[in-house]
Amino acid sequence: MSTLSQDDLKTLVGQAALKYVVSGEIVGVGTGSTVNKFIDALATIKEQIKGAVSSSNASTERLKALGIQVFDSNEVDELSVYIDGADEVDHQGFMIKGGGAALTREKIIASQSRQFVCIADESKLVTNLGRFPVPVEVIPMSAQRIIRQFRAMGGVAQIRLRDGQPLVTDNGQHIVDVTGLQITDPLAFETQVSQWPGVVTVGVFAFQKAHVCLLGTAQGVKTLTF
Ligand code: A5P
Repeated sequence: MSTLSQDDLKTLVGQAALKYVVSGEIVGVGTGSTVNKFIDALATIKEQIKGAVSSSNASTERLKALGIQVFDSNEVDELSVYIDGADEVDHQGFMIKGGGAALTREKIIASQSRQFVCIADESKLVTNLGRFPVPVEVIPMSAQRIIRQFRAMGGVAQIRLRDGQPLVTDNGQHIVDVTGLQITDPLAFETQVSQWPGVVTVGVFAFQKAHVCLLGTAQGVKTLTF
């Protein structure tokens, strides 16, 4: 039996992701507790990179505190690699993301990157997406109608709260979390929901799927390529 905790597994994959960082370049950096481990590892080689593009205010703060320069995504063209966690990843590299409410900027940077390296502990690997509530960033005035649209699909949706109030994202919007959906066709689901008026970003990453997943397991880091 393994003695590695979930936190240890996150540290392992955060460190393993360093080998995908290209010297002299700007790296795309995601958000979350696993990415925080990557940022800490990245700080140990910060002299070898030009800097980072960050997907959230939280990651930006952490990067800067460790002396890593943060660029606006508009200041750079294509990135060679984007490194981020996931709430779920399936065997094709499709993911649910947005548990940390940073999905919109995550998808933007992923779309700007040639390679998406997902870092996750093995609890995140699933056969079908949908056990984890699907986060959807929405314009506040559209939230209740979007909740009804998910209900019509068989899901149960609710506005994410923080301290009893709707959580406000880095982009000034709200998050709707949807449970009860079995996402058998992630590309179709992402296409459909992305078209609903008021949806900013749906947290299914099918078009911006992972190319590689570094999975922390009791036996060490397993590399899945898609
Ligand atoms: C942030 O919005 C998310 O997409 C994260 O990447 C995801 O929630 C994984 O976070 P953890 O590494 O904290 O589990």
